[in-house]
Amino acid sequence: MPSNTLSITDNRTGKTYEVPIAEGTIRATDLRKIKVVDDDFGLMTYDPAFMNTAACRSAITFIDGDKGILEYRGYPIEQLAEKSTYLETAYLLLNGELPNKAQLAQWTHDVTHHTFINENLKSLLDAFRYNAHPMGKLISTLAALGTFYPEAKSIFDVECRNKQITRLVAKMITIAAFGYRHMVGQPYAYPDNDLSYPGNFLNMMYKTTEAKYTPNPALEHALDVLFILHADHEQNCSTNAMRAVGSSHVDPYSAVAAAAAALYGPLHGGANEEVIRMLTEIESVNNVPAFIGKVKAGEGVRLMGFGHRVYKNYDPRARIIKKVAYEVFEVTGKNPLLDIALELERIALEDEYFVKRKLYPNVDFYSGLIYQAMKFPMDMFTTLFAIPRVSGWLAQWQEMLQDADQKIARPRQIYIGKARRDFVPMERRS
Ligand code: CMC
Repeated sequence: MPSNTLSITDNRTGKTYEVPIAEGTIRATDLRKIKVVDDDFGLMTYDPAFMNTAACRSAITFIDGDKGILEYRGYPIEQLAEKSTYLETAYLLLNGELPNKAQLAQWTHDVTHHTFINENLKSLLDAFRYNAHPMGKLISTLAALGTFYPEAKSIFDVECRNKQITRLVAKMITIAAFGYRHMVGQPYAYPDNDLSYPGNFLNMMYKTTEAKYTPNPALEHALDVLFILHADHEQNCSTNAMRAVGSSHVDPYSAVAAAAAALYGPLHGGANEEVIRMLTEIESVNNVPAFIGKVKAGEGVRLMGFGHRVYKNYDPRARIIKKVAYEVFEVTGKNPLLDIALELERIALEDEYFVKRKLYPNVDFYSGLIYQAMKFPMDMFTTLFAIPRVSGWLAQWQEMLQDADQKIARPRQIYIGKARRDFVPMERRS
């Protein structure tokens, strides 16, 4: 009978240890019993960037990176993108099941009726320079938002927690849109409860003198699909930040601000902006081969929007986004950068460098083209990623709080610094 254990022989001592295997995993703490001498700390694993370490057990999102599969709570992303709405998907992520009609109506009502933000937050935004990056404003406003709800510290009070979750999901569109209005120097446009979540966001972004803003249904739908696709992606950098910061039991606003800061980086949510910069710099289809050459030469140039830590196949979100891009261009006219993107993709998918490394377009490769066609300024792109990702961060945070295995996140290190030595007075230092 095969046993679900791993036998390890420590060749330093000749001793053999038996470690249980569960869910394809061994517990790193089980290795601690492997010692050379009794007061030895015990064996550790060294895994920078968590390349092969599961930091949690999660029932939220499933990814098979080799096959290019993404599922939320078991539902394929393709079906959700086609049949669901962002708010319904957020409910699914947060609660584990699709809502029934009454539940969806209640959730939609609650989110819609929490979109206003305290007027004082406008003074916070006004303190920023006109050219402040929207992500800097978003991160700060999220942290500041928590100060209006001191009760949010009661993270184990389920009712209170749910209230903060509703507030955060609701207010994301308002904070993001107000950040934009501040940037362009326009008066803030307030939420309109008659509109859908993405429609309301477009209203707060673009409403000017009209009495009532009517979003273009195709663009409203495209934005909703993009929100669904960005809602969660299991243990990525920002989700890991959310869990790590949340594990100190800080309020969710502070943890979400930390997660948003992680998302801001160009290797994560900042990549969609970088893709447009790259396509603009390439300038014409004729320059694509030379650019690919530079990437391959390893001159520090990366093909932005390509490659993924988990997907070693076409990112399923990229496939859906590419389709949505054509639907948006029907309304807005084709983004002139599309041809450069298509040529880059065509060459890269045939080129040995990319094939060998399994580098395929990721979620960010085409999303920027859509955002640009919809007249979102480039600086706003990562904010557009952050809006829906809040529901994923909160679902993951909530799961962590309810997980008896979890404690404050605290990795170990291998100390490689100087051995203990005596302080050197200034006059004796060279
Ligand atoms: N262009 C050119 N070469 C690349 C790229 C790229 N976009 N991505 C990876 N490589 C090469 C890399 O140079 C390395 O080659 P070698 O083995 O010769 O040294 C090999 O592929 C493996 O790369 P890695 O950096 O070890 O892979 P990683 O898993 O650490 O990085 C990544 C994943 C997403 C950071 C990386 O692919 C990248 O920088 N992509 C461009 C930025 C981007 O599009 N980011 C968005 C990610 S999807 C949205 C999100 O999660 O936020």
